[in-house]
Amino acid sequence: MEIDEEKALAARAAAGRVRAGQRVALGTGSTTAFTIRAIAENFPGGDNLSIVASSVATERFATTLGLPVRALEPNDHFDVMVDGADEVAPTLALTKGGGAALFREKFLARLSTELVIAVDHTKLVPRLGTRAPIPIEIVPFARVKLIHQLSERSLSPRLRADRVSGAPVLTDNGNEVLDLFPEDGVRDPAHLEHELRLLPGVIETGLFVGLAHRVYVGLPDGTVQEILRPDTKPG
Ligand code: 5RP
Repeated sequence: MEIDEEKALAARAAAGRVRAGQRVALGTGSTTAFTIRAIAENFPGGDNLSIVASSVATERFATTLGLPVRALEPNDHFDVMVDGADEVAPTLALTKGGGAALFREKFLARLSTELVIAVDHTKLVPRLGTRAPIPIEIVPFARVKLIHQLSERSLSPRLRADRVSGAPVLTDNGNEVLDLFPEDGVRDPAHLEHELRLLPGVIETGLFVGLAHRVYVGLPDGTVQEILRPDTKPG
């Protein structure tokens, strides 16, 4: 089975968590694009869904499929957020931000009752930071200092740059992204998350600890595995 087929299977399961009339937050990435497509099929024209997107790319894509996407409102809270991930640890801690949308994704995830993640099987890892780097969104002015500080901590920071132009990748918030390559991965994601957030100039990290409730994994045999955080009710 192709990886895209695994993504599509997991995405369909994730889209199945969205009910009519709900407030829905949309993540970003190629797997989430499958989820958005499935939501658009389940709810043509968006029915009475109330949707906020985590990136300009997602907003554009959802809109082209006929889903109504609105701006964030003061009292916003979401019944469900659907998203993808770059890595999923056994604890359901995640690495996200491969698409540079980590700030808005985490912002919306914190406002959501349920965070549902769809991934293909290659995203399951025993330890975060072993398959993908850990991205952090930073203020460009602080970049040189942060690279120095993070290098001293053996996190091997690398500025994310456009493959063609070589220019720094900018997030939808106008910030830059440093990808961190911790040797042997991240032993304690919550601790690293806390440490990174203390550094002036760090806006957000791609470590999502204690946020995901439910992960759907597309498997090579064509089935979908559902992994629940222990405090999440089945069904
Ligand atoms: C974007 C993300 C994505 O969800 C993550 O990078 C996974 O993307 P894909 O489904 O394309 O592999 O965090 O910021």
